This record gives sequence, structure tokens and C-alpha cells, in this order.
Amino acid sequence: MIKKISHIAVVVPKLDKAMGFWVEALGLELSHVEYVEDQGVDVAFLPAGESDIELLRPVDETSGVARYLEKRGPGMHHICFEVDDIEAMLARLKAHNILLINEEPTIGTGGKKIAFIHPKGTGGVLVELYELTTGEPARRRERLIAMRQRLTEGRRIYATGVRAFFSGLRYGRNGDE
Ligand code: CO
Repeated sequence: MIKKISHIAVVVPKLDKAMGFWVEALGLELSHVEYVEDQGVDVAFLPAGESDIELLRPVDETSGVARYLEKRGPGMHHICFEVDDIEAMLARLKAHNILLINEEPTIGTGGKKIAFIHPKGTGGVLVELYELTTGEPARRRERLIAMRQRLTEGRRIYATGVRAFFSGLRYGRNGDE
């Protein structure tokens, strides 16, 4: 069963520039940023009600997201549904002969289970399925607190705007400069 839209992911070449629209102009709040090693991307989470906007910034130039950015430019990358039972959902999709990227769930950051459905199976949209694991709400809270602390410690920089704050930080191996 689908519980909600977990997130909509957007590929951006630079996080600080993207903050100019999503945070400063649109008014969303940044909850945290993390480097997701197995996908070679920095991910910024911007809660929007029950769901998140996730900005993906490729760090590793050989990653799938980097290749996507090079080929198709910035823009929407995938939509993710939170499901209560990812194995059951994958079985249901297989029964409907839908082409999957992951036949079995892979284990993402913090032990969460994720699987991607191939755009060929959905009519052109990359779809991610995601099952929340038991420890995750607590981990999300910890990350949120850590992020808020960083923003508070950098108050002087933060006061000049989130965008400026980001251009002053380095993420991953290459940084944003
Ligand atoms: Co995602």
C-alpha cells in the first residue's frame, strides 16, 4: 500500500544556487544535507508538508545522477512513494510485468529499504519505492538537530542568506566552488 509521496527529487548542478529559488524565493526550509556515498550525491532535504523536495547534486562525476545531469540537464529526476511493505509492492509490480531496476530492495543510508522502477515500466518517470525502517524517525531528528546547530553556529553567515551560507561550505570531495 502507498502511504504518501515521500519526496520529489530534482537534480541541480549547484546547491547554493538552487537555494536561491527553493529556500529564499519559495520559502521552503532546509532540514539537512547529507552525502550519499553509494549514489555519489549530496542530498538537501526541504520538507514541504508531508513530503520533501530533495535536491540532488552530483559529487562523483561517474555517478548515475552526474550522467543524468550531463545528458538531460537540471530538472526533475524521480518521484518517491513511501510504502508500508516494499517486498509486497515489488511482488505486485512483477505480477503486472512492470520493468524494475531493483528486483529486490537495496539497503540505503540508515538501513532504509529502497527500490527503483524503470522509467520504461512507468511511461517515462523514474519511480522510487521506500519503506521507512524503525530507527529512521529518530535518526532524522538527530540530523535535523545537528543541521540546526550548524546553522546557528554560522549565524553571522546564515544572516546573509542560506545561499551565501552554502557557497561558503564544502560538501563531498569537490565542494561547490
Ligand atoms: Co529518492
